[in-house]
Amino acid sequence: MVKVDLSGAQSFFEGAGPDYNAAAQAHRTLSEKTGPGNDFIGWPELPETIKEGELKRLVSVAQKIRSRSKYLVVIGIGGSYLGARGAIELLKPAPGPDDTKVIFVGNGLSPDALNRAIQEIGDDDFDINVISKSGTTLEPAIAFRVFRALCKEKYGNQAKKHIIATTDAARGVLKSLADAEGWETFVVPDDVGGRFSVLSAVGLLPMAVAGIDIKKVINSAIEEFKALDVRSPENPAWQYAAARQHLYGLGKKTEILGCYEPSFRFMAEWWKQLYGESEGKNGIGIFPASVEFTADLHSMGQFIQDGTRDLMETIVRFDKFSSDFTIPFEMGDADGLNYLAGKDLGEVCTIASDAVKAAHISGGVPNIEIHVPAINEEGFASLVCFFEMACGLSAYMSGVNPFNQPGVEAYKKNMFHMLGKPGA
Ligand code: PA5
Repeated sequence: MVKVDLSGAQSFFEGAGPDYNAAAQAHRTLSEKTGPGNDFIGWPELPETIKEGELKRLVSVAQKIRSRSKYLVVIGIGGSYLGARGAIELLKPAPGPDDTKVIFVGNGLSPDALNRAIQEIGDDDFDINVISKSGTTLEPAIAFRVFRALCKEKYGNQAKKHIIATTDAARGVLKSLADAEGWETFVVPDDVGGRFSVLSAVGLLPMAVAGIDIKKVINSAIEEFKALDVRSPENPAWQYAAARQHLYGLGKKTEILGCYEPSFRFMAEWWKQLYGESEGKNGIGIFPASVEFTADLHSMGQFIQDGTRDLMETIVRFDKFSSDFTIPFEMGDADGLNYLAGKDLGEVCTIASDAVKAAHISGGVPNIEIHVPAINEEGFASLVCFFEMACGLSAYMSGVNPFNQPGVEAYKKNMFHMLGKPGA
């Protein structure tokens, strides 16, 4: 389970501090499903339901893909790819020679990116996992048209065995195509929105193909959601949600999520979507941004220390690194680094992060720390459950519907009109 450390935010709190009564009320609204968007609160039950249902099929389809293909092409955007990419880059940053490489396409409209993916695959064997809840999103739809044709060209009448669709149980173009063509399908449950779907087939199939133990992920998530149901200020989701809402009320309008592990980058992208799309509406919301430390200390560090004082900082800290690295001794000490010789690089990183924390606090940036025991399946599951639960609570505390995204329609209307889509 993750632990939240609010000691670096304490000196910024005012009055009675974070409002745990509001967190308790938000928790009731969420669990009793009495708030706006209540038909999209199926995600806390996902791990239990998937375990009893399709986990076995997911594992066996993943094994089939791993045994026959060099690439899995995951086609999807937003909640239909960020969680899987976050998990794979965090847990499998360097795929082994026998691992199937998972590549992500259909998450933009760049011809160069699409061409690069096609070139990378070349003549190698591949499978496709097209993921779209609505089945109508433009970016993945275009990429899927392209890869479907490549698949037919390569595998002829066997092509249908290389396409797996993850989509709505009954609606949408993708579902109709899948039924007509006889592709294997997995379902995005009706009551789970895209950005809350990483613990469904949406995230689990690509993760399993990459070699992540999804049974461990699901078992940990079941335990984690149980633990996060505790109704008390000891609940880390209450602590995080209440602290960030309190700080927002004090003018801290931007939250920067940072981590000292570069492979965390796409987890931060997933977090930004989760919080940005859930909270930024009705003219309010904390703007979610992210940084990668220590690299960004040499760029954004200036702004964080010294720019506009409307920032709060949330740092994800893994208590253990997955490997050691002893800094070598050098005769002559020409670079002056022998004072660090013999120290583990992870120890240097920990000391550096403590130093950064103190500096940023003294510069007026409240610091929230999220401690995760290790970079592994359990740690990943803990983070996902924690961030999802805290997001639901925090959005309800701010008075918005966490589960809709009315703001994304405006650009789509313009774009489809300008592209000449019939009826737009
Ligand atoms: O959270 C959401 O609902 C969205 O961000 C979707 O995940 C995203 O727009 C992709 O939608 P779809 O899966 O329908 O293609």
